[in-house]
Amino acid sequence: MKTPEELREQFLVTVESCQDIKEVEAARLKYLGRKGLLAEYRKNVDFKSLSPEERKEFGKGFNEMKNLFETKISRQRNEVKIRETQKESFTATERSGEPRSATSVVSKVMPIDMTLPGSGHSIGSLHPITLVQMELENIFMGMGFYIETGYDVETEYYNFEALNTPSDHPAREMQDTFWLTNGMVLRTQTSAQQVRALEKYGVPLKAIFPGRCFRYETVDSSHENTFYQLEGLVVDRHITVANLISVMKLLLSQVFHRDVETRLRPGYFPFVEPGFELDINCLICGGKGCKTCKNSGWLELLPCGIVHPNVLKSGNVDPEKWSGFAFGLGLTRLAMMKYSIPDIRIFNSGDIRALEQFTVSL
Ligand code: DAH
Repeated sequence: MKTPEELREQFLVTVESCQDIKEVEAARLKYLGRKGLLAEYRKNVDFKSLSPEERKEFGKGFNEMKNLFETKISRQRNEVKIRETQKESFTATERSGEPRSATSVVSKVMPIDMTLPGSGHSIGSLHPITLVQMELENIFMGMGFYIETGYDVETEYYNFEALNTPSDHPAREMQDTFWLTNGMVLRTQTSAQQVRALEKYGVPLKAIFPGRCFRYETVDSSHENTFYQLEGLVVDRHITVANLISVMKLLLSQVFHRDVETRLRPGYFPFVEPGFELDINCLICGGKGCKTCKNSGWLELLPCGIVHPNVLKSGNVDPEKWSGFAFGLGLTRLAMMKYSIPDIRIFNSGDIRALEQFTVSL
């Protein structure tokens, strides 16, 4: 008969060599089954020949061995289970070409509640102003315009002086300006790019300049200190107001995918003569009057005009031979109209809940 040490040794070797659940189960039956080696070992002990002390001692040792066998069997069972699921999921991922992941192994072992909602991945979305800008750029590209973005930080010359707005001009008061300590400004208008483009490309010229502008404004539902404009400039021979109006109407019908009601009023800007304000019917209230249109039913959308001769001269263009029109479209305001956004503060708020509603298929 085997000594308890021999039996334990033999058991450990057998269990540790088990490769799958079936082998573990066979080992369990062999050692712990009703007719297993442990039971047999116990049966062969002649209890009558043992003193009560010795019997007690034997009982204790026997129970310890039984516990050890049971624990070892259950550990080995878990181990082969994990090994088997690892093997399964690795071959599955190898087949699918995906990288191996530790979680795929764990998820096979851990119970999964299939009724819980999935975690999902957000792919993000484009900002509504970016969407409108991209749409406008497409429309203008179709009409053969250059696109240039210009600079957020601009010289006083290009932002004002070159645009017929010298330092003592009252029109400087129209734009509350952020001045930098080095004398430059945060661009108050994308018009700043007009003379830069004339210098760079000469004439004839058709270009748009989308970009960010800054003004020292008190922020409310329709004013922001940081906003977007899209400037347009066309210089050629014999350009008139008729060209301006037809391009603006074409543009708006393409942006809103329908004919939009417009009105043209005289407007003053030092760099155009004559100058206009092109208003569109408020699309938020349909012209009835609301907070966004200040109850007028109209929204100032497109200031525009015929390029002032002094601006052409700043760009080294002879105003006797060339003429042009310009416009400064409020991209931020257009996005508000297009997506019925009632408060301008949403754009720069960084509030993902508001911004992620705008999706686009690229
Ligand atoms: N730059 C002007 C502004 O921000 C808007 C503007 C008016 C642009 C008339 C133009 C224009 O090109 O012709 O207030």
